[in-house]
Amino acid sequence: MSQGAVADFGLIGLAVMGQNLILNAADHGFTVCAYNRTVSKVEHFLNNEAKGKSIVGATSIEDFIKKLKRPRKIMLLVKAGKPVDYIINDLLPHLEKGDIIIDGGNSHFPDTNRRYEELSAKGILFVGSGVSGGEDGARYGPSLMPGGAEEAWPHIKEIFQSIAAKSDGEPCCDWVGPAGAGHYVKMVHNGIEYGDMQLICEAYDIMKRIGRFTDKEISEVFATWNKGVLDSFLIEITRDILAYDDVDGKPLVEKILDTAGQKGTGKWTAINALDLGMPVTLIGEAVFARCLSALKKERVLASKHLTGPEIPEDAVKDKKQFVDDLEQALYASKIISYAQGFMLIGEAAKTYGWKLNNPAIALMWRGGCIIRSVFLGEITKAYRENPDLENLLLHRFFADAVIKAQQGWRKTVGLATTYGVPTPTFSTALAFYDGYRSARLPANLLQAQRDYFGAHTFRVLPEEASETLPVDKDIHINWTGHGGNVSSTTYDA
Ligand code: 6PG
Repeated sequence: MSQGAVADFGLIGLAVMGQNLILNAADHGFTVCAYNRTVSKVEHFLNNEAKGKSIVGATSIEDFIKKLKRPRKIMLLVKAGKPVDYIINDLLPHLEKGDIIIDGGNSHFPDTNRRYEELSAKGILFVGSGVSGGEDGARYGPSLMPGGAEEAWPHIKEIFQSIAAKSDGEPCCDWVGPAGAGHYVKMVHNGIEYGDMQLICEAYDIMKRIGRFTDKEISEVFATWNKGVLDSFLIEITRDILAYDDVDGKPLVEKILDTAGQKGTGKWTAINALDLGMPVTLIGEAVFARCLSALKKERVLASKHLTGPEIPEDAVKDKKQFVDDLEQALYASKIISYAQGFMLIGEAAKTYGWKLNNPAIALMWRGGCIIRSVFLGEITKAYRENPDLENLLLHRFFADAVIKAQQGWRKTVGLATTYGVPTPTFSTALAFYDGYRSARLPANLLQAQRDYFGAHTFRVLPEEASETLPVDKDIHINWTGHGGNVSSTTYDA
């Protein structure tokens, strides 16, 4: 060990997540070396939050490297994008083969794939780790989703699993898979987070506009839901947000501008779903709902021109039934969203050649992260029973749950449609459910249309095959009598 190499772990980036993760690691008995490009931040941290703890600081990259035990384990918690590459380039001249760099930011997985390749060629073990749970999670137990160079795992496993959240005594952290797999799984986590949040917002909107509930009443509904199948972090914070009053005694949430922000992880998930041809409709709608919300000026203008149905005061006759139906709609839509998320993960594993561990992923999301919930315990159980489960919806527990929930779900979507309250995620979830359970969809007509105008060919149903319509052959029909007999070629990407 080089002289002065005292730290088990080094962390670069002393913004809120970095500081909290260092404090968490120190609480678990590790000595951590803290470094930040703006060195004054290190000093401030050491003299304040880090005082009296097993935390040392570094004044330069050289100093930082010297203070780390080998193989060096360096975690970066800096802004995703270029800053990650800058820091890696600063570190590289000082590192040795076998040293480990962990990127804990919300990096886009293709960047992680690239960094993993570049650093592997140099003998550096690169790990891209999803870190979820915000400030509190980082401090008291985040969900950690590491992937990349698997040789790094035995060296970082102990620290990662000690600082991670625990669910029924098990750490919400396990090895995800190769290259960018860790950041990929974090990206899907964020997409699901977008979906869960939008579903909750639609439930709130329906209670407010159709049920004419006050924010306090809605908060109480969420409090009740939080004791049942929907028990989760996002339902819990929504309960508290709706009960929070401004200084004038009015609910603060009603004063907030209704245009949603986004940093892009939900959008990446939706784009990736399109790239992989997976119908991850709920996350897609959740992203678009944020985009539509951002068109505030245009919406205000449109609200003066485009009319919709009036919502009568007594639209809801039986409040208890209305709330129960809504709970079922939320539960069923959530099942669809997670089923879609795992479909995407499954397809990514095939496309990118990754071996991904579904039960471990569900467990990593069970605690510590933003989407943590009791429900994820059921998903963990389902995948533990059968890690190769084709689809969550085909597992008895979830199949029974959606079948049971569908009456309330359909009533809720019907009610919202009747009264003109937008429910993009509730509705798309239901449309997906009905599409997924349809042995026959109208794509036969679509194929005919494609062949009619573009000679794109079609295949015939095996039971309808004949001499003129042979099975397993691309067929083109001269629908109009004046088209040619040559079918179109496909675009070769
Ligand atoms: C987490 C969150 C976090 C994410 C924010 C903001 O897991 O702790 O997913 O990583 O950055 O939730 O995301 P948006 O700004 O895109 O809503």
